[in-house]
Amino acid sequence: MTINEIKKGILLAGGNGSRLNPITLGTSKQLLPIYNKPTIYYPLTTLMLGGIQNVLIITTKKDKENYINLLGNGSKWGMKIHYAIQEKPNGIAEAFLIAEDFIEKDKVSLILGDNLFFGQELSNLLIKSFSTNGASIFAYPVNDPSRYGVIEFDKNFKAKSIVEKPKNPKSKYAITGLYTFDNKVIDYCKNLKPSKRGELEITEIQKIYLKNKELNIKVLGRATGWFDTGTFDSLHEA
Ligand code: TTP
Repeated sequence: MTINEIKKGILLAGGNGSRLNPITLGTSKQLLPIYNKPTIYYPLTTLMLGGIQNVLIITTKKDKENYINLLGNGSKWGMKIHYAIQEKPNGIAEAFLIAEDFIEKDKVSLILGDNLFFGQELSNLLIKSFSTNGASIFAYPVNDPSRYGVIEFDKNFKAKSIVEKPKNPKSKYAITGLYTFDNKVIDYCKNLKPSKRGELEITEIQKIYLKNKELNIKVLGRATGWFDTGTFDSLHEA
């Protein structure tokens, strides 16, 4: 990507939201309010502050219209917002297949529509991730790592392994729902097989970058806040 190109981001706003039933039977979880704004405003702002102005929102057939009503083409914020449909929640990594024509030959960030980040630090890291080779992910220490993809580090704090929702997590460092990948991500996703739970797992893609020594991991500091609003408790906390 040259300096003049507009940076691209994918905002993933589909999913089942089954942990937020019955609310999510009637609406999409990324439309639920967090204080005075719909949830999706927060990850959209994170992309914006990271210098990303060209965004593809991927959502379900039934919710697409609601997002268009809410956000339009993005021009009121100086952004370009496009929309695509994920037919079924086949996993986070499917986003890169749906977005292939949007990504073209560029790098791309992906943010999960139910993830909230606070703090200046992340904006700078996100901007930098576009000039870093390979893939960039952001880790955050949590009390309940079993809910997330978890990174195991060796004694020199070098990443050793990544495990999705481990029963016995080897560290407290969760992988947050914001990543930047180079263009190889599309081919990697094309070769990915669904996991036991029937999803194309983003952690499998991160493992490929780790194996190829192309995974940059930034641990977010105390000045940054991160919430994944997928459960009632975390939604309330956010
Ligand atoms: P999850 O919270 O892992 O999944 P979910 O939204 O289906 O919820 P639940 O487990 O309670 O049924 O998803 C994280 C984010 O990614 C969330 O914003 C929804 C989005 N997502 C998609 O858009 N498509 C998908 O296929 C998946 C798995 C998630």
